[in-house]
Amino acid sequence: MKSFWDTLEKPFFILAPMEAVTDVVFRHVIKKAGSPDVFFTEFANATGWVHAGERAIAGRLVKTDDEYPIVAQIWGGEPGDMAAFAQYCAAQKFDGIDINMGCPAKSAIKSGGSALILKPEVAIASIAAAKTAGLPVSVKTRLGYSTTEEWRSWLTTLLEQNIAALTIHLRTKKEMSKVPAHHELIDDIKQLRDDIAPHTLLIINGDVRDRAHGLELAERSGVDGVMIGRGVFANPFAFSQLPDEHTKESLIELLRYHLDMYDLYSDDTSRPYDTLKRFFKIYIRDFDGASELRDMFMHTKSTTEARLLLKNSKL
Ligand SMILES: Cc1cc2nc3c(=O)[nH]c(=O)nc-3n(C[C@H](O)[C@H](O)[C@H](O)COP(=O)(O)O)c2cc1C
Repeated sequence: MKSFWDTLEKPFFILAPMEAVTDVVFRHVIKKAGSPDVFFTEFANATGWVHAGERAIAGRLVKTDDEYPIVAQIWGGEPGDMAAFAQYCAAQKFDGIDINMGCPAKSAIKSGGSALILKPEVAIASIAAAKTAGLPVSVKTRLGYSTTEEWRSWLTTLLEQNIAALTIHLRTKKEMSKVPAHHELIDDIKQLRDDIAPHTLLIINGDVRDRAHGLELAERSGVDGVMIGRGVFANPFAFSQLPDEHTKESLIELLRYHLDMYDLYSDDTSRPYDTLKRFFKIYIRDFDGASELRDMFMHTKSTTEARLLLKNSKL
C-alpha cells in the first residue's frame, strides 16, 4: 500500500510521541520553531477507548489539518480493541497508525507497551488487527525487554510483519532512559532491515540532539529517518534547518506563541493551565535573572497573567 511514508525525502525527521508533552498545542509550537517531517500523537489506549470512548483518551488524539502527515499512536494488548481503535483513527483521518511496543511504565506493561516484546504472538496479532483499518501501520519499540542481545530476534519478528516503518528507541525496557542509547548497534540493525524487509523504513531514536546530529547518524548508517524527543526540551528549534536560532529573543517569542496556541486549543477541563508550567523552563533560561523570572511564571494562573508578566519584565 502506497502512503505518505513513501513520499518522504530521506533522511526524514519525526517529533517523538511524548505523553502530556506533544499534544496539539506543543506540536504547533515545534512546527513553528522548525518543523519535523512527520508528527506523532501522544499514545492512546485502545482498550480504554473501546470501554469509555473519548473520555478515556482525553484529548490525546486531537489534531488539526495543518499537521501533515500525522500518525496516531495507539497501544494495548487486545488485538480486537486495536482493530476497533484503528478504525476510529482512520475515520478521524489520521495518515497512519503507530503501535507503541516500547513504553516501560508500570501502567502500560500490564497489557501492552514494552510487554509486547515478551508476547510476540500478541504483537503480531495487534499489527494484523491495526492493518484492517486500511492505514499504513508502523511500530515503535525498544531493543529488547531485559538485555540488548534480544534485539536481533525481536526486530526480526517485527520486520517479518510487512510494516511501513519501524522506529527503534535504542535501549531495552530495563534500561529505561538511564544509560546512553546504543548508537553502536545502528549499523547491525540497518543490515538486518536490509536483509529481511528492505521496504520497511527504519527510524532511529534515542539521545539525538537535533537535526545536525541526526543527519550525521543517518548519513553514516543509511537509516531512513530520525526521531527526536527530549532534544526539543534543550532546543525547541532542534528540527530547524536554519543556523542556530536559539537566542533569548527567539525563545521568548516562541513562549508567546505557545501561550497563543494554548488559548486556541485548550479549555480548562481538557488541559488545565498548570499543564503549561512544565514548559516554561524551555524558554526562560540562560540569562541573568532567568531563574527568578521562571519562578514568577510558575505562580501565574492564566495566559493573561503570563502575558502581563512578560510585558512587565520588558521581555
Ligand atoms: C515525557 C515523555 C513522554 C513519553 N511518551 C511517549 C509516548 O506516549 N509514546 C512513545 O512511544 N514514547 C514516549 N516516550 C518516549 C519517547 O518517544 C522517546 O522514545 C524517548 O524519549 C527517547 O528519545 P529521546 O532521547 O529523543 O527523547 C516519552 C518520553 C518522555 C520523556
